[in-house]
Amino acid sequence: MTEPGKKTEEMQQGIQQQAGKLLSQVAGYVGLRTIDIGLRFGLLDEIARRPEGITTEALATKKGLDPFYAHVWCRSAYASELLELGENQTYRLAPFVDKLLLDQGFPGYIGGISSIMMEPEIFDQFAEKLHSGERTWWDQCSTSFIQMVSNTGRPFYTRLIPGGLSKVPLLPDRLAKGGRILELACGAGIGLVRLAQTYPQSTITGVDGDASSLEIAKEAIRQGGLDTRVSLVQSTLEEFSASDEFDVAIINISMHECRDLEKVTSNVRSALKPGGYFVISDIPFPASTEGCRTVPARVMSGIQFFEALIDDQLLPTQAYVDVLSKHDFRNIENFELTPLHVVIYGQK
Ligand SMILES: C[S@@+](CC[C@H](N)C(=O)[O-])C[C@H]1O[C@@H](n2cnc3c(N)ncnc32)[C@H](O)[C@@H]1O
Repeated sequence: MTEPGKKTEEMQQGIQQQAGKLLSQVAGYVGLRTIDIGLRFGLLDEIARRPEGITTEALATKKGLDPFYAHVWCRSAYASELLELGENQTYRLAPFVDKLLLDQGFPGYIGGISSIMMEPEIFDQFAEKLHSGERTWWDQCSTSFIQMVSNTGRPFYTRLIPGGLSKVPLLPDRLAKGGRILELACGAGIGLVRLAQTYPQSTITGVDGDASSLEIAKEAIRQGGLDTRVSLVQSTLEEFSASDEFDVAIINISMHECRDLEKVTSNVRSALKPGGYFVISDIPFPASTEGCRTVPARVMSGIQFFEALIDDQLLPTQAYVDVLSKHDFRNIENFELTPLHVVIYGQK
């Protein structure tokens, strides 16, 4: 029999452990808000320009901030390991924070996902609609939210084009020589521009169901001087139809949003030339609830709040493998580019 004193001690230890876990959530929230202020007000940018370190007073003067507030932010940024403390109470960026949070072209850029978690379209709207279960869609999201999603999708494209695509056998050659590329759910057009720039002999068709996203894409294509090689179609993926036209169909962080995964897969198969590839680049949600307690899966669980609002959920890798296999794609393979990024492909 356990002695009563020992039982109380065990309980106290258990409470302390659980309190520690819960408080780490509060600490994570403090870190996220600190990152957000640092990005929004250019504080991290300014500190990045001073590798020798900067005092809070100098930061306040440079950015026109209240010196006391600047001090409070810097201390929190140090506590959250965004900043290091140097000599004479100067602060500088912690290692790789410049790449991870500030460099949009860096393959591991996570500034976009940090900022988007703060947007009302995610947690606030979910809380508002928790009782009603009312859903929303992209055409009801603000332009700034669409831009932020696009910025979150950017590192996925950076990793995919050309790095990820180069792992698909024979595809790089086919695109280098000049092929026809279909980008499904092209959104604000970052992928279209990158594809057109990376494969200058190829032509690209972008399809999306949301008119305002296509407007942003149109402008990006115009600014890139790519109008002659990139065209846009407004259509749902379920309704898009083409026959034996494309060498490759690509979809970035959107396949999980299909209203009808089977129909879209079947449409893509028809649209591809024989031997053409379907490349799905997405966020791989754990196959079981028990798999959700890793840091990447906790971030993905946050994304699921928005996905619920638009009436879908992120899916596990196997769901894509299964649907490709069911629709007679062959040579189906998948590989992870990061714990938050998987590529699945198959050939017609
Ligand atoms: C998460 S965003 C990604 C956009 C882009 N691929 C990127 O990575 O930046 C999802 C996009 O898919 C589009 N979309 C979602 N479901 C769709 C459907 N069933 N038919 C057409 N477009 C759809 C949305 O309009 C939105 O532009």
